[in-house]
Amino acid sequence: MTTASVVTNILGSLLAILVSLKLLTSFLPNLLVGLPTKIRLRANQSLLKCSKDLNKIPVLNFGWKNASARRAFVLASERPSDYTNKIYGDRVHIAYRDRIRRESFIGELGQPTERKLLGFFHPYCNAGGGGEKVLWKAVETSLKQSKDNICIIYTGDTDVNGSDILESVKNRFEYQLDSDRIIFIFLQKRDLVESKRWPRFTLLGQAYGSIILSIEALNKITPDYWIDTMGYPFAYPIVSLFANIPIVTYTHYPVISTDMLQKLKNMPGFKMNFKLIAKYVYWKSFMLAYKFAGSYVDIASVNSTWTYNHIKSIWSRSKKSHIIYPPCSTETLIEGCRNSDSSQRLNQAVVIAQFRPEKRHELILSSFSSFIKCTAEKELIPKLILIGSTRNSEDEQYVETLKEYAFGTLKIPAEFLEFKTDCKYEEMKKILYSSWFGINAMWNEHFGIAVVEYMASGLIPMCHASAGPLYDIVVPWDPKENKQSTDGALKTGFFFIDKSDPDYLAKDSSKYSTLSNLFTQVSKLGTSDRIEISNRGKICSLSKFSDVEFERSWNKILDELNSIGDVDIFG
Ligand SMILES: *[C@@H]1O[C@H](CO)[C@@H](O)[C@H](O)[C@H]1NC(C)=O
Ligand SMILES: *[C@@H]1O[C@H](CO)[C@@H](O)[C@H](O)[C@H]1NC(C)=O
Ligand SMILES: *[C@@H]1O[C@H](CO)[C@@H](O)[C@H](O)[C@H]1NC(C)=O
Ligand SMILES: *[C@@H]1O[C@H](CO)[C@@H](O)[C@H](O)[C@H]1NC(C)=O
Repeated sequence: MTTASVVTNILGSLLAILVSLKLLTSFLPNLLVGLPTKIRLRANQSLLKCSKDLNKIPVLNFGWKNASARRAFVLASERPSDYTNKIYGDRVHIAYRDRIRRESFIGELGQPTERKLLGFFHPYCNAGGGGEKVLWKAVETSLKQSKDNICIIYTGDTDVNGSDILESVKNRFEYQLDSDRIIFIFLQKRDLVESKRWPRFTLLGQAYGSIILSIEALNKITPDYWIDTMGYPFAYPIVSLFANIPIVTYTHYPVISTDMLQKLKNMPGFKMNFKLIAKYVYWKSFMLAYKFAGSYVDIASVNSTWTYNHIKSIWSRSKKSHIIYPPCSTETLIEGCRNSDSSQRLNQAVVIAQFRPEKRHELILSSFSSFIKCTAEKELIPKLILIGSTRNSEDEQYVETLKEYAFGTLKIPAEFLEFKTDCKYEEMKKILYSSWFGINAMWNEHFGIAVVEYMASGLIPMCHASAGPLYDIVVPWDPKENKQSTDGALKTGFFFIDKSDPDYLAKDSSKYSTLSNLFTQVSKLGTSDRIEISNRGKICSLSKFSDVEFERSWNKILDELNSIGDVDIFG
C-alpha cells in the first residue's frame, strides 16, 4: 500500500465514522445499554430447554443487542466474573451458577439494581509497569468502596486468562483483589493500537486503532462508566456518543504536547522546509482533534504536575481535573525503617538509577571528584554508591566506561566509590536505610520513583532542579499542618543545576548551586538538621505518594462519578 492510499483510507474511515455518528447518536445508546426486548422471556425459555441437563450451555443470540444482554446478565448474576468472554468467546451465555437458580436469576434480570459496571479500558493490563500499578490499585479501591461495584477490564492480553493476570498482580504488586467481581473482556484487535503496526503516520494510525478497539469493547459489554487508565483519547467521543456514559481518564502523558509543536517550529530553517511545515500542520490538526476529544471527558486525572500543566493547556474545557500521584507504596518503606536509628546512618550518598546516559552518572562522578579535590577534611566526604540494573551488554559496556572514567580519568579513590550492578531489592533497602543522601541527576525527569524511595527511606535527596523532583516530590513540607508549604526553611531536600543542562540559561543560576558545591554544603550539615529534613521528607512522601493517599483520591473520583451518574446518565 502506498502512503497516499493509507492516508485516504484512514481519512475516509474517519469521515465515514463521523457522518454515521451524527445519525446514530440518538439511537446507539439505547442499543448498547437499553434492555433487549423480551430478554426475560427468552432467557427463561432457553434455560428451561436446558434444565434437564444443566451442563448444557444455553447460548442466546440478541444480534446487535448482544452487549446489552451480556450487561443485563452480569447485573443479575451471582458471580460476575463468570461472564468473561475467555471461555465462550463472543457467544452470549448464561453461567452455570445462574442456570441452577433459574427462577431467581430470571426474576432479577432487567430489574433496577444498585450494581455499577466500571469499565477499565487498559489493553495492556498484564504489562506489570507503573501504569498497571495504577490500574490495579484503582480496581482494588473501586471494589473496596462498594460491594455493588463490578470492574470490567478490557484488555488485549489474549495469551493469558483472568486468573493468570490476577496471579501476577498479586506477585508483583501484592494487591489482593476480589476476583469474583472482576470481568475480563478480551479484545482481538489490539494490534491496531501498536505503534509498529503504523510505521508511518503513527499518531493517526493509533488514533484510528483505538477507536476501533473501543467499539469492539463496547460491543462486547457496555459499562456504566468508561475509565481510561492508559490514554486513548480518541475513543472518548465514540464512547460518549455511542453509549452516553460518563468518562473518567487517568493520563500519564499527553499524546501530543505543545512542547513537541514548539520544538518543531524552532528547528533551524523551519520556514523553508516543506516537509517540516507539513509535519507541523499534521501535528497541529492532531492537537485540535485531541482538544476536541478532551471535551468529552467528565473527570480528568493526571499523574503529575508536569502532565497536569500540559493537559490543562490542551483540555481547558473539561470540567474537573485532579492530580493523583501514582501509588508508590511508601508506607512499606517507611515501616521498614521505623526501628532504625537515624543518627546511626553512615556518611554515604546513594544513586539509584539504571545505567543509561540520560541518568547522568558522568555528571555525578565529575562533580564528586571536584568536591573531593577541594575538601581538606576527608572525614566529611561521603562514600558514593551507584546502584542500578543493566539491561543488556550495551549497558554493561556503559558501566565499564563509567568505571574507567571514575577511577582512571578522575582518579576518585576506591574507598569513596562503589558500583553495584546486581543489587537485590533486600540489599538495596538495607543500603537505603543506612545512608544519608540520595542523588538524582537526570534532567527533566517527569517523575522519579527513586527519589520518592529515598525520601520514604529517610534519605536526604540531592536532585537536579527540574520537573518531577522539583515540582512534585522534593517540596517544602509543613509537618505540623501536614501539607505542602511555601517556606523554604521547611525543605525536604536540595537541588542543583549544571552548565550542561539544555535549559541552563533559562534557569536562575543564583538560586541553585552546582552539584559539586552541593556536596560541600550537605556534607557540613549537622546531625539534628539532617534528622529534621529526613523526617519531613518521610512525612511528605507518605502524605503524597502512599497507596493510602491514592485510595483516598480515587474514592473521591468515584464519589464524583456517582453524583454525575445520578443526574445525567441517559438524561
Ligand atoms: C450475538 O451473539 C450470538 C451468539 O451468542 C452470535 O451468533 C451473533 O453473531 C452475535 N451478533 C452480533 C451482531 O454480534
Ligand atoms: C419461566 O417459565 C416458566 C414456565 O413457563 C414459568 O413457570 C415461570 O414463571 C417463568 N419464570 C419467570 C421468572 O418468568
Ligand atoms: C488459566 O490458564 C492457566 C494456564 O495458563 C490454567 O492453569 C488455569 O486453569 C486457567 N484458569 C482458568 C480459570 O481457566
Ligand atoms: C507519569 O507518566 C509518565 C509516562 O508514563 C511517566 O514518565 C512519569 O514518570 C509519570 N509520573 C508519575 C508521577 O508517575
